[in-house]
Amino acid sequence: MKKVIFIIALFFSLQVSRADNQNQISISTLDTELLINVSPNGRIYQSYLGAKLSKEPDKASLFEFQKTSGDSNNPNKIWECYPVSGTEDFFEPAFAIRHNDGNPTSVLYYLSHNVRKIDDNITETTIKLKDNLYPVYVTLHYVTYSKENIFKTWTEISHKEKYPVNISRYASSFLYFSEPSYYLNEFSGDWAKETKMSTQQLSFGKKIIDSKLGTRAAMFAYPFFELGFGNTANENSGKVLMGTIGWTGNFSFTFEVDNMGCLRVISGINPYASDYTLKPSDIFTTPEFIFTLSNQGVGQGSRNFHHWALNYQLKDGKGDRLTLLNNWENTGFDFNEEKIANLCKETKKLGVDMFLLDDGWFGNKYPRIDDHAGLGDWDVTKSKLPHGIPFLVKAAKAEGVKLGIWIEPEMVNPKSELAEKHPDWIISLSKREPYYFRNQLVLDLCNPKVQDYVYSIIDNLMIENPDLAFMKWDCNSPITNIYSPYLKGKQGQLYIDYVRGLYNVMNRVKKNYPNLPLMLCSGGGGRCDYEALKYFTEFWCSDNTDPVERIFIQWGFSHFFPSKSMCAHVTNWSSNTSIKFRVDVAMMCKLGFDINLQSLKEPEMAFCHQAIENYKQLKNVIYNGDLYRLFSPYDGNHSASLYVTENKSLLFAYDIHPRFGEKLFPVKLQGLNPTTMYRLKETNLMSGHDSDFRQNGQLYSGSFLMNIGLDVFTTQQTHSRVIEITAE
Ligand code: DGJ
Repeated sequence: MKKVIFIIALFFSLQVSRADNQNQISISTLDTELLINVSPNGRIYQSYLGAKLSKEPDKASLFEFQKTSGDSNNPNKIWECYPVSGTEDFFEPAFAIRHNDGNPTSVLYYLSHNVRKIDDNITETTIKLKDNLYPVYVTLHYVTYSKENIFKTWTEISHKEKYPVNISRYASSFLYFSEPSYYLNEFSGDWAKETKMSTQQLSFGKKIIDSKLGTRAAMFAYPFFELGFGNTANENSGKVLMGTIGWTGNFSFTFEVDNMGCLRVISGINPYASDYTLKPSDIFTTPEFIFTLSNQGVGQGSRNFHHWALNYQLKDGKGDRLTLLNNWENTGFDFNEEKIANLCKETKKLGVDMFLLDDGWFGNKYPRIDDHAGLGDWDVTKSKLPHGIPFLVKAAKAEGVKLGIWIEPEMVNPKSELAEKHPDWIISLSKREPYYFRNQLVLDLCNPKVQDYVYSIIDNLMIENPDLAFMKWDCNSPITNIYSPYLKGKQGQLYIDYVRGLYNVMNRVKKNYPNLPLMLCSGGGGRCDYEALKYFTEFWCSDNTDPVERIFIQWGFSHFFPSKSMCAHVTNWSSNTSIKFRVDVAMMCKLGFDINLQSLKEPEMAFCHQAIENYKQLKNVIYNGDLYRLFSPYDGNHSASLYVTENKSLLFAYDIHPRFGEKLFPVKLQGLNPTTMYRLKETNLMSGHDSDFRQNGQLYSGSFLMNIGLDVFTTQQTHSRVIEITAE
């Protein structure tokens, strides 16, 4: 035994001396740099994360500097890149393992690293680590997108022990900061209350943002956060970190301020109820943690994320989107063939691209007449739609519009033929009374047969209806009754294998139907992460379509997601507000309608029609422009956001509930060229109404617009203006 240890130690000393020659690894984008040092002890430490350093000699001294800075009595500040449980780091670990012999520690030593330039913009750095006593391997991955200043990090864990090992912590990323103070912006919510933003200062100890909901994972907490260093995370100034995890399941962010006042940020899958049994030679790949560091506040950070998403991550990020008419808020479950055919006609009349048929079109033994039955039985309800979906596709085609369809393929009502036939396909505790969320249960996607079934729902629809143009993929229940009949003795894998099963299905959909646009929906905005958005062109932000609430909800999501990915529909929620206000709010994102058009008066209908025409002309600016959030709804009774492209920009300005006689200040624009002259034009006016925007039609320099601004706000309740700003 001693001999073996000696050989291993010798092997490592060789590895370490090799590392000594190149003991610092720099991972950088245009503006940001992460430095990792291989210490003489063979382990790796974060020595820097911040604005890019210009002088090489500065970097060499950073490791020693960082260890001792801050507290001269405590010269051993250690920032191990992937700290493990049970060793000399007394805080939350990134990694915890139980080996075959019961030993609960691993110490990870540098083996090698590799830098691969994928193209001019993208570089991948991998750092391989190995336990010195056990055949356990950890590889840290870092992919940088230079121009967008985005870092993607994830980890791979594997081993060659004789039997499976148990891993109970497996972070995607572990980052350290040393700053005088830390402020966290968190995004929380619930159904119809998505992305409520709040700020808190972090002091000694831990703050955790996580989800244990499994499927509808982001119902209460969103998988993204912002950190302000030395100050709150502001819109236009200051150093901020913005991070998000690409995982459509339980996630966890731990923010821990340690004894030295340093902040540790641990991001990954939530290890709750998820001790994972890792077989020899299997690779456990964590989700990607994606972050940007901005020295110009969260505004710049958001633009970094938007650019990166459109260029690299979002499905069809560079492509167009379909405007639509949906029937959920209009008919609910109460429709038949005639009604839907009529709605296809109205789709055409309105001028949008597609009619989207929502919930309630399936189930025969247990027809889906409400949310108590039918989920799981994806055959069209004969009594409602006797000629099936092909008839509706044709009806839409006859009107020159497209047809999209709603599915909720991961779920089952106990009152369904599927539940009767395959009780073993359902996540449920056999001995206990089941807990139902919206009268439904979750299918066991850990089971490959269930994955096949879920895939077949999409496949069958597409085989029967190759012209189907869109799917809205809903998911209304969290995972409850946590027992997978498939996993049997390995229940610790349920939450993780479920998500992997879901990705298996999505991969098949993407591979076989690469051009099918998909909307991610989860009882509103309960699912919204960047791994899912590899497969989905857009997501449904909220069932709450009250325009005032939507201003806040869209403001929140816009911190991480580009407007093109955010679906916003005009509905009759808050029908006491004008149709113009409702349309102007929805128009900031991917526009749709979900409203009984008969409820609109002629001028309102004419306005919608015109606004859709305007949207067609302007959507390039909305979809691809740089977003500047100019006035936060959280700061008062107004809100304003600007999309900027080189020749045309678009300002959305909203008065929410202004006070009587309130002092109004001009809104200063951003992102324009100071020397270019811009013509202003108010658009989206109700017909017969002249613009009362007093700068309408005027020509101003970018410098004027950015330093003096526009008098767009008023003291009118729920009032809006959309201003085109065109370079001349
Ligand atoms: C929840 C979604 O958020 C709604 O838009 C709608 O599709 C319903 N589900 C249908 O059941």
